[in-house]
Amino acid sequence: MDDSPRTILVTGGAGFIGTNFVEYLLRQTDVRVVVVDALTYAGQRHNLAAYEGSGRYVFVHGHIENAQLLYHLCRTCEVDTLVHLAAHTHVDRSILQAQPFVQTNVQGTVTLLEVARQIRLRRFVQMSTDEVYGECLRGECAEDTPLLPSSPYAASKAAADCFVHAYRRTYGVPAFIVRSCNVYGPYQFPEKLLPMSILCALHDEPIPLYGDGSQRRQWLYVDDLCRALWLLCCIGEPGQVYHVSSGVELTNRELVAQILQLLGKPETLMRSVPDRPGHDRRYALRWEQLRCFGWEPSVQLEEGLRRTVAWYRDHRSWWEPLWYGEYAQYRRQWYEQVLQSGVRQEG
Ligand SMILES: NC(=O)c1ccc[n+]([C@@H]2O[C@H](COP(=O)([O-])OP(=O)(O)OC[C@H]3O[C@@H](n4cnc5c(N)ncnc54)[C@H](O)[C@@H]3O)[C@@H](O)[C@H]2O)c1
Repeated sequence: MDDSPRTILVTGGAGFIGTNFVEYLLRQTDVRVVVVDALTYAGQRHNLAAYEGSGRYVFVHGHIENAQLLYHLCRTCEVDTLVHLAAHTHVDRSILQAQPFVQTNVQGTVTLLEVARQIRLRRFVQMSTDEVYGECLRGECAEDTPLLPSSPYAASKAAADCFVHAYRRTYGVPAFIVRSCNVYGPYQFPEKLLPMSILCALHDEPIPLYGDGSQRRQWLYVDDLCRALWLLCCIGEPGQVYHVSSGVELTNRELVAQILQLLGKPETLMRSVPDRPGHDRRYALRWEQLRCFGWEPSVQLEEGLRRTVAWYRDHRSWWEPLWYGEYAQYRRQWYEQVLQSGVRQEG
């Protein structure tokens, strides 16, 4: 029996990964897409405005904590697959105030799982992160590595993953978890390392780097993640954990140096600031499982960075209202705070 999705509900579809994923679905597949997004500072409805009225895409402004709304939407739109991307996602903000992360990432996920208990879903896809494992100084984390999150953000994602596991075991919700390494590409809110570095460099402003910038991360271009998510929407098995990564690992300093080179800017723009408390030095995921399904990352880092830099250079009208809007004040305050705090320097 063909159990590939017909109608997918994407939570957080107006955010970075959500926008790219929904665009992928609308361009590369024939599924119908319903997006529910609270439009926090990180969500922009106009990202997908071109598809509104197309007959295959519906946008609903709402919170995932609103069980009634979600239940009603799932019923009336005949949703068969739920891809849960909505979250508060910025580690720095979680350090300043953890509560909204608990509210959305934990409570919101539990609400969605409760809704999922009451309807007939084929798959519930929980989007998670390598950060739930905490620091991985050697080797790579496997799908059954114990969770040991370091930041309030990572703890809220780990808690959500535990609820997903529990709802699968207790109530048979057909849920599985996708854990990804760092993702980059168009439409990412400017507070994250890569867009922030590009935009600072375009303005010839210093690029703040935590500590000595030697933290190591794996980096995956967003189109590759979207392909993996779609594949898993079609063949993912309840109860599983799937890792998605490129295996390409760089220090933050190396990554920013590549961006500066692409923009023809000097490395002296990098400015070391006191390290973030609890900052993990390295994450790394093992991802052979997806390779067995025929998935491979297809965009090399150099190409992905080139595309991303070009996108930000060509889409000033997208980021200017964000860069000079409310976020400008947050950025100034964050910068002052980080310089004053001097919490810990990691070597
Ligand atoms: N970006 C990465 O590198 C990365 C890596 C691994 C995992 N993830 C996970 O992928 C998912 C998407 O990440 P992203 O980078 O696109 O995040 P993002 O911050 O760009 O987008 C999050 C979206 O969720 C929406 N949202 C927030 N609270 C909501 C609520 N209560 N109800 C409904 N919508 C709400 C926001 O408006 C926004 O559109 C998250 O679950 C994140 O933890 C991201």
